[in-house]
Amino acid sequence: MNMKINEVNKWLFEVEHPAKGDKNIVELGMVENVEIGEDSVTVTLAFAKHRDPLAEYLIGSAKAAIIRNAPAGTKVEIKTVIKDEAAPKKKPGLDLGFEELSEVKHIIGIASGKGGVGKSTVAVNLAVALARLGYKVGLADADVYGPSVPKMTATEAEMPDAIMEGEKETIMPLEKYGVKWMSIGYFAKPEQALIWRGPMACNALKQMILQVRWGELDFLLIDMPPGTGDIHISLVHDIPMEGAVIVSTPQDVALADVEKGVNMFRNESVNKPIFGLIENMAWFTPAEHPDEKYYIFGQGGGQRMAEKYGIPLLGQIPIVQSIREGGDNGEPAALSSRPDGLAFIALAEKLAETLK
Ligand SMILES: Nc1ncnc2c1ncn2[C@@H]1O[C@H](COP(=O)(O)OP(=O)(O)OP(=O)(O)O)[C@@H](O)[C@H]1O
Ligand SMILES: [Mg+2]
Repeated sequence: MNMKINEVNKWLFEVEHPAKGDKNIVELGMVENVEIGEDSVTVTLAFAKHRDPLAEYLIGSAKAAIIRNAPAGTKVEIKTVIKDEAAPKKKPGLDLGFEELSEVKHIIGIASGKGGVGKSTVAVNLAVALARLGYKVGLADADVYGPSVPKMTATEAEMPDAIMEGEKETIMPLEKYGVKWMSIGYFAKPEQALIWRGPMACNALKQMILQVRWGELDFLLIDMPPGTGDIHISLVHDIPMEGAVIVSTPQDVALADVEKGVNMFRNESVNKPIFGLIENMAWFTPAEHPDEKYYIFGQGGGQRMAEKYGIPLLGQIPIVQSIREGGDNGEPAALSSRPDGLAFIALAEKLAETLK
């Protein structure tokens, strides 16, 4: 037949992906193969593993583009293949599969663009609150340079068990407050972790998630390290995270950091959904006046950020002394039925509902 592959590719330029800034499927690398037969054209389109809601539309548009341009009577077939862009690349020296995550329903990263916004506080309390609601929950502390889970749960003195199955060593998570916990802090003193070079830190991190016997979980939360550097990119690539939530404080100056956090998940090669924004330190309530709210960082900042990035505001957590104390003495505020504890319960309900 009088057609060339290049020509077919050119026709496929007409098929734009509405969710990818109207780039066409050829420049997006989705055209995996073009085969020209006697009186037929077969095109194979590649989709990422997570379901592309526009798949049907793109297949139909590709077919229409070829029919429009090809000689009358050409049979057109569009095949599809699934290519997981985020599939882990095997690294030498670390051969970890996802077996230990096979019974985990939702793996959610807790991230922020900036340090010190209360990400670990929120992650630990959210885990405890989800457990109080009856969900099976685990939390992996992915902050290899400054692990906080051992202190925030008063488990510093404990050492997780390891089990050997043939050549393979598996680590058992600690259990407390109804949550399974894992942190590099159980194995290395913070001073040791600080001198780790990048690749070593990355490997340790993956082991803290992939080599742990999590068992059956509704939620595995991953407390991400602050920032948006190499470790983060490697983590979101190599762990089969479903998506993320972003923690921020309400100041307008935090906006640029939220944007960095959002972009880390939304960039083309990662492309994971962000399920919501959590506004921490939304207002201050003094212990002696539990009904008062002082918006010391300004009011409505979280809502504005959420709107700007088109993500829901999942919850607001006040700044109260009992939350900090709970972190310091290892008894998370979410265990209590005070207003701050209930704020975490409300947040947990909202997240569970969002992911249902
Ligand atoms: N809502 C809150 N009310 C009172 N104190 C809070 C609140 N959130 C966090 N803090 C306190 O702020 C400090 C920093 O919190 P945390 O360690 O959770 O932040 P982080 O974002 O995880 O920091 P890093 O970037 O170092 O990982 C801690 O002392 C914590 O107890
Ligand atoms: Mg932290």
